[in-house]
Amino acid sequence: MEKAGRIDPWSSEQSTDYARIVSQFGLSSVDPDSLPNPGMLHRRGIVFAHRDLDVVVDCMGTGDPFGVLTGLMPSGRMHLGHSMVIEQVRWFQEQGADVTVAVADLEALATRGTPISRGRETALREYVLNYAAMGLDPDNTNVYFQSSRPTVQRLAFTLGQRTNLSEFEAIYGFNGESNLAHVQAPLVQVGDIVHPQMEEFGGLRPIVVPVGVDQDPHLRLTRDITQKTNWFNVKQRKSGGLTVALSVQDCNKSELGEPESGKVDMNSRTNVISSLVGSIKEIGFSDVKSNPKHGTIDIPGATIADRSRIRMKMLAIERKMGGMGLFPPCSTYHRFAVGMTGEKMSSSKPETTIFMDDDIEVMTKKVKRAISGGQPTVEEHRRLGGNVAKDVAFQYLQFFFEKDDGALDEIQRDYESGRLLAGELKQLCIDNATEWLNELKEKRGQWEGRINEFLAPDAL
Ligand code: TRP
Repeated sequence: MEKAGRIDPWSSEQSTDYARIVSQFGLSSVDPDSLPNPGMLHRRGIVFAHRDLDVVVDCMGTGDPFGVLTGLMPSGRMHLGHSMVIEQVRWFQEQGADVTVAVADLEALATRGTPISRGRETALREYVLNYAAMGLDPDNTNVYFQSSRPTVQRLAFTLGQRTNLSEFEAIYGFNGESNLAHVQAPLVQVGDIVHPQMEEFGGLRPIVVPVGVDQDPHLRLTRDITQKTNWFNVKQRKSGGLTVALSVQDCNKSELGEPESGKVDMNSRTNVISSLVGSIKEIGFSDVKSNPKHGTIDIPGATIADRSRIRMKMLAIERKMGGMGLFPPCSTYHRFAVGMTGEKMSSSKPETTIFMDDDIEVMTKKVKRAISGGQPTVEEHRRLGGNVAKDVAFQYLQFFFEKDDGALDEIQRDYESGRLLAGELKQLCIDNATEWLNELKEKRGQWEGRINEFLAPDAL
């Protein structure tokens, strides 16, 4: 999947070297104890890394608004792998987030040739219906289509000004042979991720995007681009505290009091600085030292924990002055469940995963054939015990079907000690999966014909 340590979001292979990904790309580790009501995926270390998750966790504490955004490729059938992100979206929604769901019909058209009309049908029947069944709240969910949201497309164009082919080469490994559909798709995805912050879609607030690590390149790109648009940077000072520094660019040089580069118009510069200082004081920092000529404001008493609050203030001022005022997206990363056959889960290889609407007999067959962590003979198994790290049935209980931590621990102990045989573990998985699939099917039945409730006005 990786050339030169890159992640390729379109690859059919998948890196599971999570420790390396965390250190190479500067992700932070998730500490379940720092979350309010951590969900099953957090408690079990399956959601293992993040960028700026603390920003939205702060919002949960203060009641400030925040949103969660996800996107789906409207091709193929929805399977267990896809459900992990929705599980997290539901958790964020329960903690107070508004939910935006992008149907990536333009991406599917560009990268897979899926016609827009077929993408729509697949999105609604396969994905949105299952999202409803998984418990998303329609009152607080907006599903939209890339193809019918001009704001998203316009952002893809305007924000494209902030990047170039060299950056795409560094992030995605593109070269002269690269298909341009793969150049367009990430820019539209940047538009997806950023647009909920526009006034008509909820306005300035942090947006968190839960993804598998394969999507991190898109998040790095989006964060990089949004930061380039910012008029005011909030940085840590070497000597302690934080500094706000003007970022003078062609688009804002007259507003920031530098009509020609290098020449500061002290009158308008002082006005800008004093409006920034005023709003920093408003949130409780009285010790503020500004240097209008350099365009910097030092806040010695502020700590890194104050950064996002100060940033929000600066972005609000930027917006009043005519800038975009974009907060970089926050993100979380989950581990991938192994495919049932050992390779990557894929819609195009039905034997590698369980689909949301698989019949019980089909699911049963897949579990029975799945890779096991048991020993070759019963005698050896009783003596040596099973290996949960290799056992698909165990991992599917852990990732999806056994909600009770205590029950899961007991299964692990019994398996590792040899008391529980591989076949018995598979039967436990089948029983739990049966209940899970049946419940989901019943809920789908309840939502059938009503999924319009989840659609944004421009998707109806
Ligand atoms: N590219 C994503 C995929 O392949 C789909 C997607 C489009 C997406 N826009 C998004 C995912 C925004 C997360 C956020 O599945």
